[in-house]
Amino acid sequence: MDIHVLTLFPELFPGPLAVSVTGRALKQGLLRLHVRNIRDFAHDRHQVCDDYAYGGGPGMVMKPEPVAEAVEAAKATLGEKADQAPIVLLTPQGRPFTQKVGQELARSPALVLICGHYEGVDERVRERVATDEISIGDYVLTGGELAALVVIDAVARHVPGVLGNEESAATDSFAGGLLQYPQYTRPADYRGWLVPDVLLSGNHAEIARWRRHQSLLRTLLRRPDLLPRAELTKEDLRFLNEHGWAPQGP
Ligand code: ADE
Repeated sequence: MDIHVLTLFPELFPGPLAVSVTGRALKQGLLRLHVRNIRDFAHDRHQVCDDYAYGGGPGMVMKPEPVAEAVEAAKATLGEKADQAPIVLLTPQGRPFTQKVGQELARSPALVLICGHYEGVDERVRERVATDEISIGDYVLTGGELAALVVIDAVARHVPGVLGNEESAATDSFAGGLLQYPQYTRPADYRGWLVPDVLLSGNHAEIARWRRHQSLLRTLLRRPDLLPRAELTKEDLRFLNEHGWAPQGP
């Protein structure tokens, strides 16, 4: 997958993406990161990329020309993939980023990520250049770069080959819309803190049942808001009912 990042701070990349799972994916060429400095597309000698807001008010606004032209330069290198590449503006006003959105973006052959800065980006970039707007949470970051790093990391986990067999995305939290069950490793007894017996039993059916129940309980206790959209079987619904949860009617 080709990921194009447009930023005023290219030195922030690859940053944390250079290590661990994403670092390996970059080395193997499963992910290709192309970072462009938006400033290189400024029209004036001083490479100014921000200006005062029309109508007044505090803070500067990112100018449209350098951003639009940086996107065009990125698309020009994508060839026939250009039309299939979402042009994503990272902004606190975007749609909330979730595991599902990460999965959806991972199906594209390429992504173009625009990192906003200052008080915001000229509205014409949103309207005419970006095809998608994403927020990583209800808080304001200094710029879109940290958000882009988060999105790239979460998307990479869904790109075929990026996770080894032993690191399957299928058991991650949010797979199927539930939180992950608790995990344990050796020793079975550490200071008298014991691993649940069932996990030592070797009974795979029992272990799978216990894990499913733990996922359901954990989601019910910590993130009940996830349950209405989770993939639940009749048996799951029965178990949740026994623990006091009932789906809300329309
Ligand atoms: N830029 C600033 N804050 C952001 C957020 N919460 N998500 C995405 N991009 C941002």
